[in-house]
Amino acid sequence: RIAYVNGRYVAHRAAAVHIEDRGYQFADGVYEVCEVARGFIVDSTRHLDRLDRSLRELQIAQPMARKPLISVMREVIRRNLVTDGMVYLQVSRGVAPRDHVFPTGIKSALVVTAKPVDPRLGAAKAEKGVKVITVPENRWERVDIKSVGLLPNVLAKQKAKEAGAQEAWFIDPDGTVKEGASTNAWIITRDGVLVTRPAETGILRGVTRTTLIDLAKKLDLTVEERPFTVEEAQAAREAFITAATTLVMPVVEIDGRPVANGHPGTVAASLRNAFFDIAE
Ligand code: PDD
Repeated sequence: RIAYVNGRYVAHRAAAVHIEDRGYQFADGVYEVCEVARGFIVDSTRHLDRLDRSLRELQIAQPMARKPLISVMREVIRRNLVTDGMVYLQVSRGVAPRDHVFPTGIKSALVVTAKPVDPRLGAAKAEKGVKVITVPENRWERVDIKSVGLLPNVLAKQKAKEAGAQEAWFIDPDGTVKEGASTNAWIITRDGVLVTRPAETGILRGVTRTTLIDLAKKLDLTVEERPFTVEEAQAAREAFITAATTLVMPVVEIDGRPVANGHPGTVAASLRNAFFDIAE
């Protein structure tokens, strides 16, 4: 495997960043994960728009312009023989002697990796559906920035694993669902309405979420962007999660309670298929 690290293509096992990289010392950096399907980077424009936004919000310099960045992503995908899988990019503020305030005169650091993922794995998972647990929201307020500071997400995901589940939903004190540790959360009501939390209130604006909202509208499904509670999700007709890595993934259990009959729903399954068809 090959990785791109600050201007060089290097063997993945030997790829390294400096010990004073601010991403390493302060989690002072941002990232993106894009799905690669049939050799294409899915939703690249939306991912790179969000990367630009994350960088702007943190006043981190762009490591390079968009065109060369896409070229690097494509080259890493090519060198790793990825047809289906994912491409990961990470930008940190750069390397400087440890000091909390922004250093001046340094360049941001860019790492790009890619790996193949067998699409049959996701398909098999989607046929069974995933289990979700809930955890109290304990993240900072700027989760709209795709920061590499993911310790609460890491702990939540580990807790899910220890409970035999695959995702953890962060819950606000008012009982509403924010989002998963690495996914957005959705339900389908008894009336067939798709519900997902507004992206303005304490979640990451998932690219898969945005694309799915567009797709659902084209399919004449009603989408309501509003908060929903854990109880509402447990009583829903269907529930599912979305992310570049999982696409549309049915949720069959929330905190040990089955969603509907405990099997993946038909609408989530058809949305998953429809998503594959438009992915390019
Ligand atoms: N996670 N919410 C959070 C907290 C996320 O970390 C992610 C993505 C999403 C979904 O966003 P998108 O549809 O753009 O992938 C929502 C990536 C996949 C990760 O951390 O691996």
